[in-house]
Amino acid sequence: MQQERLKVLLDEEILAQRVKAMGLEIREVYGDVPITVIAVLKGSFMFMADLVRAIGGDVKVEFLGVSSYHGGTRSTGAVKITQDLRHPIEGQHCLVVEDIVDTGLTMDYLRRLLEVRGPKSLRVATLLDKPINREIEVAVEFVGFSIPDEFVVGYGLDLGELYRNLPYIAVYTP
Ligand code: IMP
Repeated sequence: MQQERLKVLLDEEILAQRVKAMGLEIREVYGDVPITVIAVLKGSFMFMADLVRAIGGDVKVEFLGVSSYHGGTRSTGAVKITQDLRHPIEGQHCLVVEDIVDTGLTMDYLRRLLEVRGPKSLRVATLLDKPINREIEVAVEFVGFSIPDEFVVGYGLDLGELYRNLPYIAVYTP
């Protein structure tokens, strides 16, 4: 691990506090209904694990494997489904959980992919948002943190599959 390239942006305590608050906010918006949480892999796995514990009530967990970066630090805009959902989502209240929305291309693609499957509702929760890079307008109902245009790693986010296990979010300087 090249520690000297990392600068902590959001430490463990700040992440825990914000994720807890997001969980409460999400449960309040949905009310007392079952929520199907759709975790977008791989980046959201750690956020999703903490978030579902904070949401409480009836929650189902589904996984959607997506690859959009192909190992680099720039989005190509090409989204590849590497693992589809195992169950239908028709008639269910769905919450897509993403690690970061950057250009918005991935989330725009996913929203359209999932909408046609007939969920009762579809909302998006992202831990991080880089609004400055948006190339397409896409609805994101719950945002953890808006961050500047920096490449970040940790807490599930990777660079070439590394750094996902950091318990904090750090800016990576090449
Ligand atoms: P978008 O399609 O440009 O919005 O990119 C979304 C995906 O790109 C996210 O799900 C991440 O996997 C990846 N991504 C975007 N920015 C970063 C970053 O700063 N660090 C790590 N992955 C990123």
